[in-house]
Amino acid sequence: MENRIQIFDTTLRDGEQVPGCRLDTKNKLLIAEELELLGVDVIEAGFPISSPGDFESVSEIAKLVKNATVCGLTRAVEKDIEVAADALKHARFPRIHTGIGTSDQHVFTKIKTTREDIIERGVRAVKYAKSFVEDVEFYAEDAGRTDNEYLAQVIEAVIAAGATVVNIPDTTGYCLPEQYGAKIKFLKENVKNIDKAIISTHCHNDLGLATANSIAGIQNGAGQIECTINGIGERAGNTSLEEVVMIMRKHEALKADTRIDSKRLKGISNLVIERMRMPVQANKAIVGANAFAHSSGIHQDGVIKNRDNYEIIDPAEVGVHESSIVLTARSGRAALLYRLENLGANLSKEDLEPVYQKFLELADANDVVNDDMLKKLLDENMVDA
Ligand code: KIV
Ligand code: ZN
Repeated sequence: MENRIQIFDTTLRDGEQVPGCRLDTKNKLLIAEELELLGVDVIEAGFPISSPGDFESVSEIAKLVKNATVCGLTRAVEKDIEVAADALKHARFPRIHTGIGTSDQHVFTKIKTTREDIIERGVRAVKYAKSFVEDVEFYAEDAGRTDNEYLAQVIEAVIAAGATVVNIPDTTGYCLPEQYGAKIKFLKENVKNIDKAIISTHCHNDLGLATANSIAGIQNGAGQIECTINGIGERAGNTSLEEVVMIMRKHEALKADTRIDSKRLKGISNLVIERMRMPVQANKAIVGANAFAHSSGIHQDGVIKNRDNYEIIDPAEVGVHESSIVLTARSGRAALLYRLENLGANLSKEDLEPVYQKFLELADANDVVNDDMLKKLLDENMVDA
């Protein structure tokens, strides 16, 4: 039986914290609309107490969104919770996301208090949030570096206070997948009321492990993944939504899936790039410009014979309409012929050879040989296209 994993998108909160990515309400609404069409279960719309603009955005998103839960972030502070509840008052499915740091690092050097006090503050915050909304998520900030025994005590106390979801953030992106997976397993096995809440992953990418850690989380009993479009977020970013969704789709052995309409992934990635003014690297998994581009002769020959030789995802599955055979100085005759045929040229083996030699000269002088260059090459060699 398949496990339905909830997708909690925090592009508009953790993603929007990135310097230069701030959005006004109009653009946040546009992205929220697309997130709903994409099929995310939860949209974290912002941190309402942080600014009047963010309050307005959360409030407008709460009015707009029909099917997804709309969530607002707070600290474990009464005023934050009151403001979030106010911003969410028109939401069909409102959720308050409250929490506090639990690692010794945070307890002793940031909050400068005791472990006992942290539990009391967490419980108080959950109970207060619960007086406004039914659905309350608790985050144990820096859970990745929190001692597991103590983390289990915190989690048990906040679930007893009414938390419906317990978020275990690897705030600093420190954990190895084995460690993060073991942490989730430990909570599953040692928190006696754990069945009353959903465990959520929230992994940062400081060591490039956010996606691997999130998957380790669901393999060990987490039911929700927090992530962002294109993996944007604080510092090195958050878990990338498109990566975890496609990992679950491609690996049936995980017995886990989401409601995401994967055909919309490329479109929403482009929208976030454009509106947040934050490009993704060309080799970014799933949505990068080169994610389905083949440029070496050996790979191109294999893809032309059968795409499955070098592609594990049909590009159309993620909204990319063509896998591209990119012509460079490393391309072979099969790729050149394929691209020339796409332009309407019909060449015999003998006719191809001189064109291929000219093509190599052109390719040595240019990074990529495009269609215009190919047409010129055909003209110069008097081949009809
Ligand atoms: O990374 C983190 O710990 C967070 C929390 C506020 C959920 O973003
Ligand atoms: Zn975060």
